[in-house]
Amino acid sequence: MDNDTPDEVFAELKTEHLGGWGVAQIAVGSGLAVYAMWVGILQPGFRRVPLRLQVPYIPASRAQVANVITLLRGRKGSLVDLGSGDGRIVLEAHRQGFAPAVGYELNPWLIRLSNFHAWRAGFHGKVTYRREDLWKVDLTECKNVTVFLAPSVLSLLQDKLQAELPDDAIVVAGRFPFPDWKPCRIEGQGVDRAWAYSMQAQKQHNSRKNDKL
Ligand SMILES: C[S@@+](CC[C@H](N)C(=O)[O-])C[C@H]1O[C@@H](n2cnc3c(N)ncnc32)[C@H](O)[C@@H]1O
Repeated sequence: MDNDTPDEVFAELKTEHLGGWGVAQIAVGSGLAVYAMWVGILQPGFRRVPLRLQVPYIPASRAQVANVITLLRGRKGSLVDLGSGDGRIVLEAHRQGFAPAVGYELNPWLIRLSNFHAWRAGFHGKVTYRREDLWKVDLTECKNVTVFLAPSVLSLLQDKLQAELPDDAIVVAGRFPFPDWKPCRIEGQGVDRAWAYSMQAQKQHNSRKNDKL
């Protein structure tokens, strides 16, 4: 085999059967590679977050960002994006006059990318990206909140937002609506749809529900 040309080696490999052991090795190897990529690149910083609360990075489309901004029209003041990814919503919110505009993100690569995007757009130091677990962020002062997370966490997030946000806050959710809240406005279609929720209306609705019980 030592003197074989590469073509001969390749032809030999093609005719050889892998067998159960070979297939198992390839499966384990591929599994480890995918796991390493998940832990190292896509989800670093998530070790302390329970698996059921981990949400992967899927950036909002241009249409999603536009719909979120449309729903925020007429609002001003501070804005936070919970799970800010590469920072695109925070950046656009800053362009629309929201200040301070802050993104909370656990993935350090995405924080670096966000800062790079901000620098490239000429907004270095004008927007903030914090490497923090969104579940631990104090939201009591937030007036404008955006979220683009997975349906599996929205029910739990509803409780946190309702407990912490002031009455005059608005929450805008992209792609997936909150399961138990009634939106005050909806923008866009299909996967680009976004929902706006008034905290005041939400709290009034809940207290009426509790009164009836
Ligand atoms: C679907 S992406 C949305 C990114 C961005 N908001 C956008 O619309 O383009 C969700 C982001 O939330 C981040 N994330 C998930 N769980 C988090 C947590 N507990 N704390 C902070 N960030 C989190 C993920 O790393 C990911 O970047």
